[in-house]
Amino acid sequence: MRNTRRTLVASAAALAALAALALPFTAHAQTAPKLKVGLMLPYTGTFAALGTAIENGFRLHVAEQGGKLGGREVEYFKVDDESDPSKATDNVNKLIKRDSVDVLVGTVHSGVAMAMAKVAKDTGTLLVVPNAGAGAVTGAMCAPNIFRSSFSNWQPGYAMGEVVAKRGHKKVVTITWKYAAGDESVQGFKEALEKGGGQVVKELSLPFPNVEFQALLTEIAAAKPDAVYTFFAGGGAVKFVKDYAAAGLKKNIPLYGPGFLTDGTLEAQGDAADGLFTTLHYADSLNLPRDNAFRLAYAKTYKLQPDVYAVQGYDAAQMLAAGLAAVKGDVGKKAELASAIEKAKIDSPRGPFTLSKAHNPVQDFYLRQVVGKENKMVGVASKALADPGRGCRM
Ligand code: BEZ
Repeated sequence: MRNTRRTLVASAAALAALAALALPFTAHAQTAPKLKVGLMLPYTGTFAALGTAIENGFRLHVAEQGGKLGGREVEYFKVDDESDPSKATDNVNKLIKRDSVDVLVGTVHSGVAMAMAKVAKDTGTLLVVPNAGAGAVTGAMCAPNIFRSSFSNWQPGYAMGEVVAKRGHKKVVTITWKYAAGDESVQGFKEALEKGGGQVVKELSLPFPNVEFQALLTEIAAAKPDAVYTFFAGGGAVKFVKDYAAAGLKKNIPLYGPGFLTDGTLEAQGDAADGLFTTLHYADSLNLPRDNAFRLAYAKTYKLQPDVYAVQGYDAAQMLAAGLAAVKGDVGKKAELASAIEKAKIDSPRGPFTLSKAHNPVQDFYLRQVVGKENKMVGVASKALADPGRGCRM
C-alpha cells in the first residue's frame, strides 16, 4: 500500500516535471511572434493607385491563408515612399531599424527600389519587389535575399519591339520619363526593334513625374515617324494618352507601349485609349480558372477590378508563402528560405511562372488591345520571356 502510494506520488511528480518542461514549447507554439511585413509603397503622387493595388493584392493572399504566412500571423508596417529616391534610404531604414520588420515588400518606382535593394543586400533582409522593373535589382545588384514578383523594365519593352517590327514599322520615336524605368524600357524595345529591321529615330524624354507633354508632342508631329513607343504609368499615363489623342496624333501615328500605359487607367482615359496595343504579363480577359477566381475574390473584397499591380502584390505574398512554409516561419533559416522561393512555381493569376537564376519572373508577355474598358488579350507576344540578368553574379 505504502509502496503504491509512493509510486503514485513519484509518478505525479514526474508528470508535473514533464509538463513544466513541455510548457515553454507549447506556449511558444501558441504565441509564435507575429511576422512583421514592411510595406514600402507610394501612397501619394502619380503612382499612388499602384501602391494601393499592390497592398490590396498582397493582403488578399494573406487573408486567404487565414491571415498567416509560414504559420505566423502577419503584422503590417507601412511607409509612403512618395516615389522619391532621395528619401528612399531613410524610408527603408524606418522599416528595418525602427520597426524591425522580418521581410520587406516594395516598391513601384525603379529609383526607390534600387535604394531598397542596396539596404536589403547590406542587411540581409529578405526583399520582394512587387513592381519596380530596375534591371540592376535582378542584374548587377542581385543577391540571394532579393526577389521580384513583377517584371524587368527590359521585358515588356522587348516584347513590344518584336510586335512593332513585325507590324512593319521602320522609323519609331520614343517618349518617356527620364529615369531607369523609362530608359530601360526604351532599351529593351530598341533591341528587339533593331533585330527586326526597324530603327529608333528620336528619343524624347522629360523628368519624372512631369506631365507637360505639349512641346514634345509638337516634336513628334514634326518628325512624322511610322509609330511612337512610350513608357508612362499611373497618373502620367492617363494624361499622356489623353494629350496624345487631343493633339490629333492618335489617328495618324500609332502609339505603342508596355501595358502600364493602359492598366488601371482606362476609366480615367475614356475614349482616348480605345484601340491601343500594349504588351504586358497580364490582361483583363485571360479566362484562366486561377485568374477568374482571383478576380472574383478581389472584386468582392475591394469592390474594384484588379489590375497588373494587384496581381504582382498577390504574387509577392505567394512567393513569401512558399518560402516561409518551407522553414515553418523561421526567417533565420535564410538559405533554406531563399532556396524554396527560387524553386517555387507560382500559380499566378497571370498564368504560372518560375524565377530566373537572378530571381526575376520568366513569363509570357501578352499582346493586348483596349476594347471598351478592358485590356483584351489578343495573343502571346513573347512566350516564357526571361530577362537576360546582365551583370548578376550569383
Ligand atoms: C518603375 O519605375 O520601374 C515602374 C513604375 C511604374 C510602372 C512600371 C515600372
